[in-house]
Amino acid sequence: MGRQGRAYPCPVTTTATPMSQLLDGPARPAAQQPWWPEAEALDRAAQTLASFPPIVFAGECDVLRDRLAEAAAGRAFVLQAGDCAETFAAATADNIRDRVKTILQMAAVLTYGASVPIVKVGRMAGQYAKPRSSDTETREGVTLPAYRGDMVNDFEFTGDARRPDPHRMVRAYHASTATLNLVRAFTMGGFADLRHVHDWNRGFVTSPANSAYERLARDIDKAMRFMIACGADFEKMKTTEFFAAHEALILDYERPLTRIDSRSGRLYDTSGHFVWVGERTRDLDGAHIDFIARVHNPVGVKLSTRTTPDYVEKVMDLVDPDRTPGRLTFITRMGARQIRDALPPIIEAANAAGAAVTWICDPMHGNTFESASGYKTRDFADIVEEVHGFFDVHRALGTVPGGIHVELTGNDVTECIGGAEKILDADLTKRYESVCDPRLNHRQGLELAFLVAEMLGGE
Ligand code: PEP
Ligand code: CO
Repeated sequence: MGRQGRAYPCPVTTTATPMSQLLDGPARPAAQQPWWPEAEALDRAAQTLASFPPIVFAGECDVLRDRLAEAAAGRAFVLQAGDCAETFAAATADNIRDRVKTILQMAAVLTYGASVPIVKVGRMAGQYAKPRSSDTETREGVTLPAYRGDMVNDFEFTGDARRPDPHRMVRAYHASTATLNLVRAFTMGGFADLRHVHDWNRGFVTSPANSAYERLARDIDKAMRFMIACGADFEKMKTTEFFAAHEALILDYERPLTRIDSRSGRLYDTSGHFVWVGERTRDLDGAHIDFIARVHNPVGVKLSTRTTPDYVEKVMDLVDPDRTPGRLTFITRMGARQIRDALPPIIEAANAAGAAVTWICDPMHGNTFESASGYKTRDFADIVEEVHGFFDVHRALGTVPGGIHVELTGNDVTECIGGAEKILDADLTKRYESVCDPRLNHRQGLELAFLVAEMLGGE
Protein backbone atom coordinates (compact mmCIF):
# COMPACT_ATOMS: atom_id res chain seq x y z
CA MET A 1 0.00 0.00 0.00
CA GLY A 2 1.07 3.58 -0.56
CA ARG A 3 2.12 5.88 2.19
CA GLN A 4 -1.28 7.43 2.75
CA GLY A 5 -3.28 4.25 2.69
CA ARG A 6 -0.95 2.00 4.65
CA ALA A 7 -2.90 -0.84 6.19
CA TYR A 8 -2.70 -0.49 9.93
CA PRO A 9 -2.99 -3.83 11.64
CA CYS A 10 -4.99 -3.91 14.81
CA PRO A 11 -3.60 -4.71 17.33
CA VAL A 12 -0.85 -2.49 16.11
CA THR A 13 0.94 -1.70 19.25
CA THR A 14 4.45 -3.00 19.17
CA THR A 15 4.60 -3.05 22.93
CA ALA A 16 3.44 -5.53 25.48
CA THR A 17 1.01 -3.06 27.07
CA PRO A 18 -2.20 -4.64 28.26
CA MET A 19 -4.32 -2.71 25.82
CA SER A 20 -2.83 -4.70 22.98
CA GLN A 21 -5.30 -7.40 23.98
CA LEU A 22 -8.17 -5.03 23.51
CA LEU A 23 -7.19 -3.28 20.30
CA ASP A 24 -8.15 -6.25 18.22
CA GLY A 25 -10.10 -6.34 14.99
CA PRO A 26 -9.42 -6.26 11.30
CA ALA A 27 -6.60 -4.28 9.71
CA ARG A 28 -7.85 -0.83 8.78
CA PRO A 29 -6.23 1.75 6.56
CA ALA A 30 -4.81 4.72 8.44
CA ALA A 31 -4.57 7.86 6.33
CA GLN A 32 -1.96 10.55 6.90
CA GLN A 33 0.59 8.36 8.71
CA PRO A 34 4.31 9.02 8.29
CA TRP A 35 6.46 6.51 6.53
CA TRP A 36 8.88 5.77 9.37
CA PRO A 37 12.15 4.70 7.75
CA GLU A 38 13.28 2.38 10.54
CA ALA A 39 11.03 -0.24 12.09
CA GLU A 40 13.38 -0.74 15.02
CA ALA A 41 13.40 2.92 15.96
CA LEU A 42 9.61 2.90 15.80
CA ASP A 43 9.45 -0.10 18.14
CA ARG A 44 11.79 1.60 20.57
CA ALA A 45 9.74 4.80 20.58
CA ALA A 46 6.48 2.89 21.04
CA GLN A 47 7.93 0.92 23.95
CA THR A 48 9.26 4.06 25.55
CA LEU A 49 5.90 5.81 25.24
CA ALA A 50 4.11 2.77 26.63
CA SER A 51 6.38 2.80 29.68
CA PHE A 52 5.64 6.47 30.51
CA PRO A 53 2.96 7.66 32.91
CA PRO A 54 -0.31 8.93 31.45
CA ILE A 55 -0.43 12.63 30.60
CA VAL A 56 -4.03 12.95 31.79
CA PHE A 57 -6.21 10.82 34.04
CA ALA A 58 -9.38 9.00 33.17
CA GLY A 59 -11.34 10.79 35.87
CA GLU A 60 -10.49 14.16 34.32
CA CYS A 61 -11.71 12.95 30.93
CA ASP A 62 -14.98 11.94 32.58
CA VAL A 63 -15.33 15.41 34.09
CA LEU A 64 -14.83 16.95 30.65
CA ARG A 65 -17.46 14.60 29.22
CA ASP A 66 -19.92 15.92 31.83
CA ARG A 67 -19.00 19.51 30.96
CA LEU A 68 -19.50 18.85 27.25
CA ALA A 69 -22.89 17.31 28.02
CA GLU A 70 -23.80 20.55 29.79
CA ALA A 71 -22.73 22.48 26.68
CA ALA A 72 -24.87 20.21 24.50
CA ALA A 73 -27.83 21.13 26.68
CA GLY A 74 -27.08 24.87 26.54
CA ARG A 75 -26.01 25.03 30.18
CA ALA A 76 -22.34 25.71 29.34
CA PHE A 77 -20.37 26.96 26.34
CA VAL A 78 -17.09 25.51 25.08
CA LEU A 79 -14.03 27.55 24.14
CA GLN A 80 -11.52 25.32 22.38
CA ALA A 81 -8.47 27.28 21.32
CA GLY A 82 -4.76 27.17 20.63
CA ASP A 83 -2.12 26.73 17.99
CA CYS A 84 -2.73 25.09 14.65
CA ALA A 85 0.51 23.18 15.21
CA GLU A 86 2.54 23.39 18.39
CA THR A 87 6.31 23.26 17.90
CA PHE A 88 9.05 22.17 20.30
CA ALA A 89 10.85 25.49 19.89
CA ALA A 90 7.76 27.53 20.74
CA ALA A 91 6.85 25.51 23.85
CA THR A 92 8.36 28.16 26.11
CA ALA A 93 7.01 29.44 29.43
CA ASP A 94 6.17 32.84 27.97
CA ASN A 95 4.32 31.46 24.97
CA ILE A 96 2.34 29.01 27.08
CA ARG A 97 1.50 31.71 29.61
CA ASP A 98 0.35 34.13 26.93
CA ARG A 99 -1.83 31.54 25.20
CA VAL A 100 -3.46 30.51 28.47
CA LYS A 101 -3.90 34.17 29.33
CA THR A 102 -5.66 34.84 26.02
CA ILE A 103 -7.98 31.88 26.53
CA LEU A 104 -8.79 32.98 30.09
CA GLN A 105 -9.50 36.53 28.91
CA MET A 106 -11.78 35.28 26.16
CA ALA A 107 -13.50 32.96 28.61
CA ALA A 108 -14.17 35.83 31.03
CA VAL A 109 -15.82 37.84 28.26
CA LEU A 110 -17.82 34.85 27.04
CA THR A 111 -18.99 33.99 30.56
CA TYR A 112 -20.59 37.37 30.76
CA GLY A 113 -22.30 37.03 27.38
CA ALA A 114 -23.46 33.49 27.95
CA SER A 115 -24.24 33.68 31.66
CA VAL A 116 -23.21 30.05 31.80
CA PRO A 117 -19.85 28.43 32.63
CA ILE A 118 -17.26 28.40 29.86
CA VAL A 119 -15.55 25.04 29.33
CA LYS A 120 -11.92 25.92 28.59
CA VAL A 121 -10.09 23.49 26.34
CA GLY A 122 -6.62 24.21 24.92
CA ARG A 123 -5.55 22.97 21.51
CA MET A 124 -2.41 22.30 23.46
CA ALA A 125 -0.11 19.73 25.02
CA GLY A 126 -0.28 17.27 22.13
CA GLN A 127 -1.10 19.24 18.97
CA TYR A 128 2.23 18.28 17.36
CA ALA A 129 1.08 16.54 14.17
CA LYS A 130 -0.60 17.83 11.04
CA PRO A 131 -2.49 16.23 8.16
CA ARG A 132 -1.11 17.38 4.80
CA SER A 133 -2.65 17.63 1.35
CA SER A 134 0.44 16.06 -0.22
CA ASP A 135 3.00 13.53 0.99
CA THR A 136 5.82 15.55 -0.48
CA GLU A 137 6.84 19.15 -1.01
CA THR A 138 8.85 20.39 -3.98
CA ARG A 139 10.94 23.55 -3.92
CA GLU A 140 13.12 24.57 -6.85
CA GLY A 141 13.17 21.07 -8.25
CA VAL A 142 13.94 19.38 -4.91
CA THR A 143 11.26 17.04 -3.55
CA LEU A 144 11.22 16.05 0.13
CA PRO A 145 8.69 14.55 2.51
CA ALA A 146 6.09 17.10 3.62
CA TYR A 147 6.40 18.56 7.11
CA ARG A 148 3.93 16.61 9.26
CA GLY A 149 4.45 18.38 12.56
CA ASP A 150 7.24 18.32 15.12
CA MET A 151 6.06 14.93 16.36
CA VAL A 152 7.16 13.47 13.01
CA ASN A 153 9.83 15.60 11.33
CA ASP A 154 11.32 19.08 11.20
CA PHE A 155 10.05 22.08 9.25
CA GLU A 156 13.46 22.95 7.79
CA PHE A 157 13.65 22.04 4.09
CA THR A 158 16.55 19.56 4.11
CA GLY A 159 16.59 15.82 3.65
CA ASP A 160 17.76 15.22 7.20
CA ALA A 161 15.19 17.49 8.77
CA ARG A 162 12.29 16.09 6.80
CA ARG A 163 13.09 12.43 7.48
CA PRO A 164 10.43 11.10 9.88
CA ASP A 165 12.05 10.21 13.21
CA PRO A 166 9.97 8.17 15.69
CA HIS A 167 11.99 9.50 18.61
CA ARG A 168 10.22 12.80 17.96
CA MET A 169 7.07 11.21 19.42
CA VAL A 170 8.97 10.78 22.68
CA ARG A 171 9.98 14.44 22.52
CA ALA A 172 6.34 15.37 21.84
CA TYR A 173 5.34 13.47 24.97
CA HIS A 174 7.86 15.42 27.06
CA ALA A 175 6.90 18.75 25.53
CA SER A 176 3.23 17.95 26.19
CA THR A 177 3.79 17.00 29.83
CA ALA A 178 5.89 20.13 30.41
CA THR A 179 3.20 22.27 28.78
CA LEU A 180 0.36 20.74 30.72
CA ASN A 181 2.34 20.98 33.94
CA LEU A 182 2.69 24.72 33.47
CA VAL A 183 -0.94 25.09 32.44
CA ARG A 184 -2.00 23.24 35.58
CA ALA A 185 0.24 25.50 37.68
CA PHE A 186 -1.21 28.63 36.10
CA THR A 187 -4.80 27.59 36.40
CA MET A 188 -4.53 26.24 39.95
CA GLY A 189 -2.05 28.72 41.40
CA GLY A 190 -3.85 32.06 41.30
CA PHE A 191 -3.02 33.18 37.74
CA ALA A 192 -6.63 32.54 36.73
CA ASP A 193 -8.03 34.82 39.46
CA LEU A 194 -11.09 36.39 37.87
CA ARG A 195 -10.11 39.86 39.11
CA HIS A 196 -6.74 39.72 37.29
CA VAL A 197 -8.35 38.43 34.15
CA HIS A 198 -10.84 41.27 34.25
CA ASP A 199 -8.04 43.82 34.68
CA TRP A 200 -6.19 42.41 31.66
CA ASN A 201 -9.35 42.87 29.59
CA ARG A 202 -9.64 46.47 30.73
CA GLY A 203 -6.30 47.09 28.99
CA PHE A 204 -7.76 45.73 25.77
CA VAL A 205 -10.88 47.85 25.92
CA THR A 206 -9.16 51.18 26.57
CA SER A 207 -7.51 51.18 23.14
CA PRO A 208 -9.38 53.52 20.77
CA ALA A 209 -9.97 50.75 18.21
CA ASN A 210 -12.13 48.96 20.75
CA SER A 211 -14.66 51.57 21.76
CA ALA A 212 -17.41 49.27 20.52
CA TYR A 213 -16.68 46.97 23.44
CA GLU A 214 -16.75 49.62 26.11
CA ARG A 215 -20.39 49.11 26.92
CA LEU A 216 -19.94 45.39 27.48
CA ALA A 217 -16.79 46.05 29.52
CA ARG A 218 -18.67 48.59 31.67
CA ASP A 219 -21.41 46.02 32.24
CA ILE A 220 -18.84 43.46 33.32
CA ASP A 221 -17.31 46.02 35.69
CA LYS A 222 -20.68 46.68 37.20
CA ALA A 223 -21.31 42.97 37.65
CA MET A 224 -17.93 42.55 39.35
CA ARG A 225 -18.67 45.42 41.77
CA PHE A 226 -22.04 43.89 42.49
CA MET A 227 -20.43 40.56 43.26
CA ILE A 228 -17.85 42.18 45.54
CA ALA A 229 -20.58 44.11 47.33
CA CYS A 230 -22.49 40.87 47.84
CA GLY A 231 -19.39 39.35 49.43
CA ALA A 232 -18.77 36.85 46.62
CA ASP A 233 -16.06 34.38 47.49
CA PHE A 234 -13.27 35.35 45.11
CA GLU A 235 -10.94 32.85 46.75
CA LYS A 236 -12.87 30.13 44.96
CA MET A 237 -12.50 31.97 41.67
CA LYS A 238 -8.71 31.88 41.79
CA THR A 239 -8.57 28.50 40.12
CA THR A 240 -10.22 27.20 37.03
CA GLU A 241 -10.65 23.97 35.12
CA PHE A 242 -8.63 23.73 31.94
CA PHE A 243 -8.53 20.75 29.59
CA ALA A 244 -6.10 19.66 26.86
CA ALA A 245 -7.14 18.55 23.37
CA HIS A 246 -5.48 17.67 20.09
CA GLU A 247 -6.14 15.86 16.83
CA ALA A 248 -5.57 12.11 17.28
CA LEU A 249 -3.62 11.79 14.06
CA ILE A 250 -0.44 9.76 14.53
CA LEU A 251 -1.67 6.43 15.81
CA ASP A 252 1.86 5.33 16.72
CA TYR A 253 1.72 8.08 19.35
CA GLU A 254 -1.87 7.69 20.52
CA ARG A 255 -1.91 3.91 20.87
CA PRO A 256 0.99 3.43 23.31
CA LEU A 257 -0.55 6.18 25.44
CA THR A 258 -3.89 4.37 25.52
CA ARG A 259 -4.34 2.67 28.87
CA ILE A 260 -6.86 0.73 30.85
CA ASP A 261 -8.41 2.71 33.66
CA SER A 262 -8.02 0.63 36.77
CA ARG A 263 -11.35 1.82 38.23
CA SER A 264 -13.61 1.13 35.30
CA GLY A 265 -11.58 -1.27 33.19
CA ARG A 266 -12.20 0.98 30.20
CA LEU A 267 -9.67 2.24 27.67
CA TYR A 268 -8.65 5.90 27.70
CA ASP A 269 -6.30 7.73 25.40
CA THR A 270 -4.24 9.41 28.10
CA SER A 271 -2.44 11.73 25.67
CA GLY A 272 -5.15 14.39 26.19
CA HIS A 273 -8.56 14.86 27.75
CA PHE A 274 -10.30 15.28 24.41
CA VAL A 275 -9.10 14.04 21.03
CA TRP A 276 -10.69 14.62 17.67
CA VAL A 277 -10.49 13.09 14.22
CA GLY A 278 -9.87 15.56 11.43
CA GLU A 279 -11.62 16.11 8.14
CA ARG A 280 -8.99 14.11 6.25
CA THR A 281 -8.95 11.02 8.42
CA ARG A 282 -12.61 10.52 9.28
CA ASP A 283 -13.35 7.60 6.90
CA LEU A 284 -15.90 5.29 8.45
CA ASP A 285 -13.73 2.26 7.64
CA GLY A 286 -10.48 3.90 8.64
CA ALA A 287 -8.27 3.33 11.66
CA HIS A 288 -8.89 6.76 13.19
CA ILE A 289 -12.64 6.43 13.66
CA ASP A 290 -12.05 2.88 14.90
CA PHE A 291 -9.55 4.24 17.42
CA ILE A 292 -11.82 6.92 18.89
CA ALA A 293 -14.71 4.46 18.96
CA ARG A 294 -12.64 2.27 21.32
CA VAL A 295 -11.49 4.86 23.82
CA HIS A 296 -13.73 6.27 26.50
CA ASN A 297 -12.57 9.91 26.31
CA PRO A 298 -14.92 12.55 25.05
CA VAL A 299 -14.09 12.73 21.34
CA GLY A 300 -14.75 14.93 18.33
CA VAL A 301 -15.13 14.58 14.59
CA LYS A 302 -14.57 17.49 12.20
CA LEU A 303 -17.26 17.94 9.56
CA SER A 304 -16.84 19.94 6.36
CA THR A 305 -19.26 20.64 3.51
CA ARG A 306 -18.37 17.20 2.14
CA THR A 307 -20.29 15.53 4.96
CA THR A 308 -23.42 13.63 3.96
CA PRO A 309 -26.46 13.04 6.21
CA ASP A 310 -25.77 9.32 5.88
CA TYR A 311 -22.22 9.78 7.19
CA VAL A 312 -23.50 11.62 10.26
CA GLU A 313 -25.78 8.77 11.28
CA LYS A 314 -23.13 6.12 10.61
CA VAL A 315 -20.39 7.87 12.53
CA MET A 316 -22.74 8.34 15.49
CA ASP A 317 -23.55 4.63 15.41
CA LEU A 318 -19.85 3.77 15.46
CA VAL A 319 -18.56 6.29 17.97
CA ASP A 320 -21.58 7.03 20.14
CA PRO A 321 -23.98 4.10 19.74
CA ASP A 322 -25.62 4.78 23.11
CA ARG A 323 -26.09 8.49 22.35
CA THR A 324 -24.36 9.50 25.58
CA PRO A 325 -24.40 13.28 26.10
CA GLY A 326 -20.85 14.67 26.11
CA ARG A 327 -19.33 11.65 24.40
CA LEU A 328 -19.33 12.97 20.83
CA THR A 329 -18.74 16.49 19.60
CA PHE A 330 -19.23 17.53 16.00
CA ILE A 331 -16.84 20.32 15.10
CA THR A 332 -18.30 21.87 11.96
CA ARG A 333 -16.01 23.81 9.61
CA MET A 334 -18.06 24.73 6.61
CA GLY A 335 -16.83 28.16 5.53
CA ALA A 336 -18.60 31.49 6.00
CA ARG A 337 -20.36 31.33 2.66
CA GLN A 338 -21.47 27.70 2.90
CA ILE A 339 -22.52 27.24 6.50
CA ARG A 340 -26.11 28.46 6.19
CA ASP A 341 -26.83 25.91 3.45
CA ALA A 342 -24.53 23.07 4.46
CA LEU A 343 -25.16 22.86 8.20
CA PRO A 344 -28.98 22.40 8.39
CA PRO A 345 -29.15 19.00 6.62
CA ILE A 346 -26.35 17.73 8.85
CA ILE A 347 -28.11 18.81 12.02
CA GLU A 348 -31.41 17.40 10.80
CA ALA A 349 -29.82 14.04 10.01
CA ALA A 350 -28.21 13.95 13.45
CA ASN A 351 -31.51 14.81 15.14
CA ALA A 352 -33.39 12.18 13.14
CA ALA A 353 -30.86 9.61 14.37
CA GLY A 354 -31.37 10.62 18.00
CA ALA A 355 -28.19 12.66 18.42
CA ALA A 356 -26.97 13.74 21.83
CA VAL A 357 -23.94 15.51 20.34
CA THR A 358 -22.28 18.78 21.27
CA TRP A 359 -22.08 21.17 18.30
CA ILE A 360 -18.98 23.31 18.05
CA CYS A 361 -18.11 25.82 15.33
CA ASP A 362 -14.60 25.86 13.87
CA PRO A 363 -14.71 29.08 11.82
CA MET A 364 -11.08 28.73 10.76
CA HIS A 365 -10.60 25.76 8.46
CA GLY A 366 -13.32 26.55 5.93
CA ASN A 367 -12.04 30.09 5.48
CA THR A 368 -8.38 29.74 4.52
CA PHE A 369 -7.18 31.33 1.29
CA GLU A 370 -3.99 32.56 -0.32
CA SER A 371 -3.62 36.32 -0.20
CA ALA A 372 -2.48 38.37 -3.17
CA SER A 373 1.00 38.52 -1.63
CA GLY A 374 1.09 34.73 -1.40
CA TYR A 375 0.44 34.15 2.32
CA LYS A 376 -1.98 31.51 3.55
CA THR A 377 -4.41 33.66 5.52
CA ARG A 378 -7.94 34.08 6.85
CA ASP A 379 -10.11 37.16 7.01
CA PHE A 380 -11.40 38.04 10.48
CA ALA A 381 -14.71 39.08 8.90
CA ASP A 382 -15.21 35.57 7.44
CA ILE A 383 -14.46 34.01 10.81
CA VAL A 384 -17.07 36.18 12.50
CA GLU A 385 -19.54 35.53 9.68
CA GLU A 386 -19.21 31.77 10.03
CA VAL A 387 -19.89 31.96 13.77
CA HIS A 388 -22.94 34.14 13.01
CA GLY A 389 -24.18 31.54 10.54
CA PHE A 390 -23.60 28.80 13.10
CA PHE A 391 -25.71 30.60 15.73
CA ASP A 392 -28.44 31.46 13.23
CA VAL A 393 -28.75 27.91 11.90
CA HIS A 394 -28.87 26.34 15.37
CA ARG A 395 -31.40 28.86 16.61
CA ALA A 396 -33.61 28.34 13.56
CA LEU A 397 -33.56 24.58 14.10
CA GLY A 398 -33.94 24.71 17.87
CA THR A 399 -30.57 23.05 18.48
CA VAL A 400 -27.79 24.33 20.72
CA PRO A 401 -24.69 26.19 19.51
CA GLY A 402 -22.36 24.64 22.06
CA GLY A 403 -19.01 26.30 21.51
CA ILE A 404 -16.26 27.57 19.25
CA HIS A 405 -12.94 26.04 18.16
CA VAL A 406 -10.32 28.56 17.09
CA GLU A 407 -6.65 28.72 16.16
CA LEU A 408 -4.92 31.48 18.05
CA THR A 409 -1.77 32.50 19.80
CA GLY A 410 -1.17 34.86 22.71
CA ASN A 411 1.42 36.68 20.63
CA ASP A 412 1.17 39.73 18.45
CA VAL A 413 1.49 37.91 15.13
CA THR A 414 0.11 39.11 11.80
CA GLU A 415 -1.31 35.99 10.16
CA CYS A 416 -5.06 36.68 9.74
CA ILE A 417 -6.17 39.88 8.04
CA GLY A 418 -8.78 42.29 9.43
CA GLY A 419 -10.13 42.86 12.90
CA ALA A 420 -10.22 46.18 14.72
CA GLU A 421 -6.47 46.52 14.15
CA LYS A 422 -7.18 46.27 10.43
CA ILE A 423 -4.32 43.96 9.52
CA LEU A 424 -3.81 44.17 5.76
CA ASP A 425 -2.29 41.78 3.25
CA ALA A 426 0.81 44.00 3.26
CA ASP A 427 1.13 43.50 7.04
CA LEU A 428 1.28 39.70 6.86
CA THR A 429 4.99 39.79 6.19
CA LYS A 430 5.65 41.65 9.48
CA ARG A 431 5.18 38.77 11.87
CA TYR A 432 3.99 35.59 10.21
CA GLU A 433 5.24 32.74 12.42
CA SER A 434 2.84 29.85 11.99
CA VAL A 435 4.37 26.71 10.49
CA CYS A 436 0.92 25.67 9.41
CA ASP A 437 -2.38 27.59 9.41
CA PRO A 438 -2.76 31.32 10.13
CA ARG A 439 -3.84 32.06 13.72
CA LEU A 440 -5.74 34.89 15.34
CA ASN A 441 -3.42 37.07 17.38
CA HIS A 442 -4.12 38.03 20.97
CA ARG A 443 -6.25 41.06 20.12
CA GLN A 444 -8.18 39.32 17.37
CA GLY A 445 -8.95 36.46 19.76
CA LEU A 446 -10.30 38.84 22.34
CA GLU A 447 -12.26 40.78 19.76
CA LEU A 448 -13.86 37.53 18.60
CA ALA A 449 -14.80 36.75 22.20
CA PHE A 450 -16.59 40.10 22.54
CA LEU A 451 -18.51 39.46 19.33
CA VAL A 452 -19.44 35.90 20.30
CA ALA A 453 -20.49 37.16 23.76
CA GLU A 454 -22.94 39.45 22.00
CA MET A 455 -24.28 36.55 19.95
CA LEU A 456 -24.65 34.45 23.10
CA GLY A 457 -26.41 37.21 24.95
CA GLY A 458 -28.68 38.03 22.04
CA GLU A 459 -31.39 35.42 22.41
C1 PEP B 1 -6.90 21.43 12.12
O1 PEP B 1 -7.76 21.47 13.02
O2 PEP B 1 -5.78 21.96 12.23
C2 PEP B 1 -7.25 20.77 10.84
C3 PEP B 1 -6.34 20.27 10.03
O3 PEP B 1 -8.56 20.80 10.61
P1 PEP B 1 -9.49 19.93 9.64
O4 PEP B 1 -9.30 18.50 10.04
O5 PEP B 1 -10.85 20.46 9.97
O6 PEP B 1 -9.09 20.22 8.24
CO1 CO C 1 -5.20 24.24 11.34
